[in-house]
Amino acid sequence: MNQTMQSQPFLWGSATASYQCEGAWQEDGKVESMWDRYLHENGYENGDVASDHYHRFREDLQLMHDGNQNAYRFSLSWPRIITDLDGTVNEKGLAFYGALIDECLAQGIEPFVTIYHWDLPQYLQEIGGWLNRKTCDAFVTLCRVVWKAFGGKVKHWTTFNEPKWFTFSGYFNGNYPPEHRDAQELITCCFNVMLANAMAVREFRAEKIPGEVGLVASYETFYPAEDNAACAAAAHNADNFANLWCTSSCAKGVFPADLVQRLKEEGLDLSFADEQALQIIHDNTVDFLGLNYYSPEFVTPCEEETEIVINNAGKNFKRKSLYKVKGWFATVRNPNLKYNAWDMGIYPQGLYDTLKTNYDLYHIPVYITENGYGNYDQMENGVINDDERIEYIDGHVKALLRAKADGVDVRGYFVWSAMDLYSWKNGCEKRYGLIYVDFEHDCRRIPKKSYYWYRDAIAAGFSKEGRN
Ligand code: BG6
Repeated sequence: MNQTMQSQPFLWGSATASYQCEGAWQEDGKVESMWDRYLHENGYENGDVASDHYHRFREDLQLMHDGNQNAYRFSLSWPRIITDLDGTVNEKGLAFYGALIDECLAQGIEPFVTIYHWDLPQYLQEIGGWLNRKTCDAFVTLCRVVWKAFGGKVKHWTTFNEPKWFTFSGYFNGNYPPEHRDAQELITCCFNVMLANAMAVREFRAEKIPGEVGLVASYETFYPAEDNAACAAAAHNADNFANLWCTSSCAKGVFPADLVQRLKEEGLDLSFADEQALQIIHDNTVDFLGLNYYSPEFVTPCEEETEIVINNAGKNFKRKSLYKVKGWFATVRNPNLKYNAWDMGIYPQGLYDTLKTNYDLYHIPVYITENGYGNYDQMENGVINDDERIEYIDGHVKALLRAKADGVDVRGYFVWSAMDLYSWKNGCEKRYGLIYVDFEHDCRRIPKKSYYWYRDAIAAGFSKEGRN
């Protein structure tokens, strides 16, 4: 890691992802992503236009600048940059990101770039996606291209966003493309993604790209629902299942031994984990961890059949979200927490624990790369009073500052999301933005009350308290 990173100011920013905000799904030579294909084929709400960030990014960056934000986390659309299996580079796609990065720098905003936030090119999905090791090689090719183009201008790189969610949802729960439900495929993909991460880190170091390279993990804090050994064991199972395979392999270079043992006992085939790949993972760990924290889970043991219920319908959903994995753990609702309409529990202590746990385990710098509140925001007389979001962010930032005061080397905080955007299977109704996007009328931008609150809070003290 570059030493200058240690003296950088604390980053206060907001985040987006390419598919969720850019729109322009067919413009300037971009090819189809797996999400384009999947949502179109099934007739689901899609991100064809999304927040139209592709055309409005200058206005968005101006708003971030005026909102006192000094960093912007965004991702690169792989199918905009590389258009086929031969690795053909689309210069117009690269030029878009060049303009976006230049605009960040002109506005005094650090670009914090995620290389992969789920929008795999369809041509790679057709050869098996993350089940196929060729996708790992293709990922390194993508990294090489973007580092050659933007290395030096961008100092904060992350390889993947949340390996847990796109593998689990695509290959175990089947609610994301390619809608498979197969534990063997799940663990194969998980391994290949962590291998691709390590191969990319190796490349970053070999090419001496300036700055730092990390990975963004979704971190779910799992707490025993009751104070007993069985619930504690279930919480550890859940941690292994959802978090540790990812964080331990990228930050320490090894998979948890008890998890590996357990998978073998369950009859899963781990022959994909060959010595050479394990060595690459071992030798190429990240400089920092990005942690996305939204809500906690409370767990008990589970002997019932596996069942995953995800609330994508908000207030119209007739059940409650749950996660039951036979023999591993089951989640239960905590009656003492407030939940939003999509069953997300609000618990700022979970953010503190996320930071503390990961820092104590890995001793590398951490950033909160996503934290935010999804809601049905309404505009009334041109104003959006999103007080619940303000309360949520305020509570979580206070938890972050507490962790920092307790010695955690946390270096930045990003609200999810900069502006309203397309929320995967939830559509555009579930709004997270500091800025309202009027999807019905040309995507015009209207800053919400939370935008002004965040702007003033940064000026009034977050920066001071957060500084190293
Ligand atoms: C994170 C993802 O899992 O959570 C984002 O990195 C996502 O892409 C965010 O949008 C909020 O989740 P959701 O499902 O409510 O959009």
